[in-house]
Amino acid sequence: MLSRVLKVAAQQGVKSFSTSQQNNVKVVVCGASGGIGQPLSLLLKNSPLVSELSLYDIVHTPGVAADLSHIDTANADIVIIPAGVPRKPGMTRDDLFNTNASIVRDLAAGCAKACPKALIGIISNPVNSTVPIACETLAKAGVLDPKRVFGVSTLDVVRANAFIGEAAGVDPQQVNLPVIGGHSGVTIMPLLSQCKPAVNFSQDKIKALTERIQEAGTEVVKAKAGAGSATLSMAYAGARFAISLIRAMRGESNIIECAYVRSDVTEAKYFATPLILGKNGIEKNLGYGTLNAFEQELLANALPELKKNIQKGEDFVNKN
Ligand code: NAD
Ligand code: LMR
Repeated sequence: MLSRVLKVAAQQGVKSFSTSQQNNVKVVVCGASGGIGQPLSLLLKNSPLVSELSLYDIVHTPGVAADLSHIDTANADIVIIPAGVPRKPGMTRDDLFNTNASIVRDLAAGCAKACPKALIGIISNPVNSTVPIACETLAKAGVLDPKRVFGVSTLDVVRANAFIGEAAGVDPQQVNLPVIGGHSGVTIMPLLSQCKPAVNFSQDKIKALTERIQEAGTEVVKAKAGAGSATLSMAYAGARFAISLIRAMRGESNIIECAYVRSDVTEAKYFATPLILGKNGIEKNLGYGTLNAFEQELLANALPELKKNIQKGEDFVNKN
């Protein structure tokens, strides 16, 4: 059974900058008792931009869909979903599909009923497939707005900034690197040619950094040795993404984040690129700009895997 573990007024005194701003932003976290959910909820609770935070997780009885009606009363503006099992060493993200696909489908069905206009950020893996699952579920319910559904790939950007800052001797907070494609292995494509500030690494170093960014999740899974995958860095990244959604919702301009969304930028139906966020989700997809030869090869390697992952997610909803 899905139950709400906590409903809290977040920080007092949300400040307003203009009368047209949305000041009461309600955020729901589904999977709030988990390794990501707990620190993510803490970070959101600590943000003056969140006026109400509702935290959900499962207890021991069935009836997820029925109990999701609890979310009705929240009528959330933003739903962040870190619900589902994490990897153990030796597993791929796709190995999580059998467990997490139905969790994301049921939560998306709940959102369709309870808060069909919410902006939804999906953290649960495999993101390449769970985002199509959520979109197909919302479409079946007749409420899909693809501009409002996001696969949270912010951790790839955060990692890329950290690793490049370290390698270039630059404050990682000053580094801004687009990471496009999907969120697993070869589908993660950091665009070092577009790094700001520009970096000047050898081709060998670029290849090594690219591979480290692609395999960073596995690096953490191995280091945790059976105790799960990235939680603290994901909570940080998830909070960054949720707060960007809120700032855009409140009318701030030029809020840009990379995320994995429904897209016509490539032949893959879902693809992560930098997005300008607005009051209703994606305001503009900025695409991926000009790729150098190395990055074109990354794209060629990523697309078949990505298309396979997307198809698997869509089939799960439409063929079951
Ligand atoms: P965890 O097992 O610690 O927590 C998951 C939580 O989800 C648990 O508390 C569980 O009770 C809850 N849950 C399960 N089914 C639910 C349902 N139907 N409704 C609500 N809650 C439900 O796992 P974690 O380490 O927090 O990871 C969660 C997911 O996030 C995993 O799938 C993991 O692979 C993924 N992840 C994604 C990224 C990313 O970059 N997108 C990064 C790290 C982890
Ligand atoms: C990550 O990138 O850390 C997550 O996708 C979790 C994982 O399984 O690697």
